[in-house]
Amino acid sequence: MWKGRFTENTAQAVQKFTQSLDLDWALASYDIEGSVAHARMLGSEGLIPPEEARRIEDGLNRIREEIASGTLVPTQELEDVHMNIESRLIELLGPTGARLHTGRSRNDQVAVTMRLFLRDRLRHIASGMEALLSVLLERAARHMDVIVPGFTHLQQAQPISMGHYWMAHFAAFSRDCERLLFALGSLRECPLGAGALAGSTLPLNREMTAKALGFASPTRNSLDTVAQRDYMADYHSFAVTFATHCSRLAEDFVIYSSREFGWLLLPDAFCTGSSMMPQKKNPDVLELLRGKTGQILGHFLDLLVTLKGLPLTYDRDLQEDKRGLQASLRTVEEMLAVLVPLLSAVEVDGEKAAEGMNDGFLLATDVAEYLVAKGVPFRQAHGMVGGLVKECLARKKGLFDLTGEEWKELLPEAGEDLFPLLSLRSAVERRRTYGGTAFDQVAKQIEDGKAFLENFRESFKR
Ligand code: ARG
Repeated sequence: MWKGRFTENTAQAVQKFTQSLDLDWALASYDIEGSVAHARMLGSEGLIPPEEARRIEDGLNRIREEIASGTLVPTQELEDVHMNIESRLIELLGPTGARLHTGRSRNDQVAVTMRLFLRDRLRHIASGMEALLSVLLERAARHMDVIVPGFTHLQQAQPISMGHYWMAHFAAFSRDCERLLFALGSLRECPLGAGALAGSTLPLNREMTAKALGFASPTRNSLDTVAQRDYMADYHSFAVTFATHCSRLAEDFVIYSSREFGWLLLPDAFCTGSSMMPQKKNPDVLELLRGKTGQILGHFLDLLVTLKGLPLTYDRDLQEDKRGLQASLRTVEEMLAVLVPLLSAVEVDGEKAAEGMNDGFLLATDVAEYLVAKGVPFRQAHGMVGGLVKECLARKKGLFDLTGEEWKELLPEAGEDLFPLLSLRSAVERRRTYGGTAFDQVAKQIEDGKAFLENFRESFKR
């Protein structure tokens, strides 16, 4: 393509080293979409004869089919998807094909191709997120009445509704949805017309190509257009936060499904066995959700490290941005594809959970707050109940095992009215602060969650 200036052919090793076909051949249809819009604009502005613009479009459509059917095989000598397609067009149309690159550089071309590609993939991921949110709402409603221990420091803290637990993940993933919408928003401007870096002497109609390709407007600064990759960083930022949330959920489930906890039941179809130990049922899917998170962070770092020292504007280093982006997109999609069906089949064993809480110590805060309601200052109440727990431990008894006599002896301030409060159910039911675990609060969260989901659905389809 540039042999005019050169006296030697590119070395074989250089062709192999500089090619990007392994990364961009799969993006051919997006490159063609961009080229069709560009050719139409050239024709309609009279920059090339309109008749030739139509022939270019037909040629590009033919090439699209040749690629789909595998009859057009790219060559390394032509470096990347952009030049392979253009060269085939020239082969088909001669001088007419040679008009396509009028007022365009691969720098704005690659930028538009990547945005079109990413926009599609983000919409696909958004429908995965939609499915994720919707399964969480369904689980929350289903397990609303099941009481499980809530933890801090992985030590039993206070009893909670399992519905509340599911809605905690809903809250985190719904923020990820907002980040995803932000990343989609970063794709709203069209790079075409930025040229190599400074725009063009030809009167390109940038509004027209932007509109034709579904962008809100052309980009504002041609230098920034070919140099920046923030729109990728915005995706990576979503991806790494999302993956981290998956990883934390996975870690909880590994713990809750282990024999020592045992109240979370994983579906067989999402577990694997051991090649040696016949009794084993291993949570490998969860471990891999955790395990893949590191790569996603790695791909983000890779991009930022690449960008960090780059002089404006385009530098060839940027070609490598596709590697991590594609790998990250693939991993995020794979994670969603197992997470959603796994969650939809997870069950909870409320009796087993209750067994694990049968000493009743999770209600210690409830006893202290009972005393507060009677007028005891909280710090003092805390000390009194702490002493009660210490004495229980010494007698090898739980709070639930204390007799009426023992209550009188150990906590004389406790009246008969304490006893109805000493149940896991009452502990959950009474935590009615906004956003708390009380059943009616969880029901409210589910209602709000449905509205959020409805809104999200509308936003990413636009
Ligand atoms: N394959 C290149 C990329 O992906 C296309 C842009 C090349 N531009 C250039 N000025 N050499 O970034």
